[in-house]
Amino acid sequence: MKPNDLAEHHSNVALSVVKEALKEANIPTSELSIIGYSRGPGIGQALVIGAFIARNLAIRLKKPLVGVNHPLAHIEIGRKVTLSQDPVIVYVSGGNTQVITHNGRKYAVLGETLDIGIGNAQDKLGREIGLPFPAGPKLDRMEGRWIDLPYTVKGMDLSFSGLLTESIKRIKSGIKVEDVVWSFMEVAFSMIVEVSERALALTNKKELLLVGGVAASPKLRDKFRVMCSERRAELKVPSPELSRDNGAMIAWTAILSYIIRGPDSLDNSSIKPQWRIDEITWPLINAR
Ligand code: FE2
Repeated sequence: MKPNDLAEHHSNVALSVVKEALKEANIPTSELSIIGYSRGPGIGQALVIGAFIARNLAIRLKKPLVGVNHPLAHIEIGRKVTLSQDPVIVYVSGGNTQVITHNGRKYAVLGETLDIGIGNAQDKLGREIGLPFPAGPKLDRMEGRWIDLPYTVKGMDLSFSGLLTESIKRIKSGIKVEDVVWSFMEVAFSMIVEVSERALALTNKKELLLVGGVAASPKLRDKFRVMCSERRAELKVPSPELSRDNGAMIAWTAILSYIIRGPDSLDNSSIKPQWRIDEITWPLINAR
């Protein structure tokens, strides 16, 4: 979907989604405490619509407004529902691949993709072989034989673009699609697990929290299960509904943010498409 189509879609459905959520939760607007919204990072055209609707609701309903960092929200809802205390977090989604942990003052990024997110790499490969979006679940189930593909880990960072380019090249040269896909998945997931394992070793933490849309992949979970049991770390994965993008994560993190620093002023509510999680001073609180 192009950014402008995405924005149009958001503005078309936003109010009916809010109404439906309130109806399902059986909460009148008078009982809302805070209006939370995703402030970034993300696609500007889509973020603007969310911020616009949130500001309007806050003014109309006279409620405090709280802008939330999207990756932070994945982590906080994940910690809440899996009862993680202080985990190493692996955030794997379309646009993101990051290994994160709390350093006592804020969430710090220990390693991340230097180019595209794992989910985007999967979708681009999927498109090449005619799979609909999202391609991950179908790619996950394909079985094949090993072929050599580029494995790129640089220190604690990863890169998927060379792996993707080479995989597409191999498919075009006539190598069996199943073999390329299976090997692509093996290489990509092994890279993520390697960096995550190193993060556990460096931090000496004993919990690993897997969040983001790609956390639903059984293949990735299996690899993490093996690594975590070898390291005697506990693997924690929220349900798919709360791993992938969801409204509850934004709402919960808005509550935490309100407790920590109060509301945002309307003048300070503009979107931040490049907002990194490590720019935010954030205590590790275990609110239940
Ligand atoms: Fe996300």
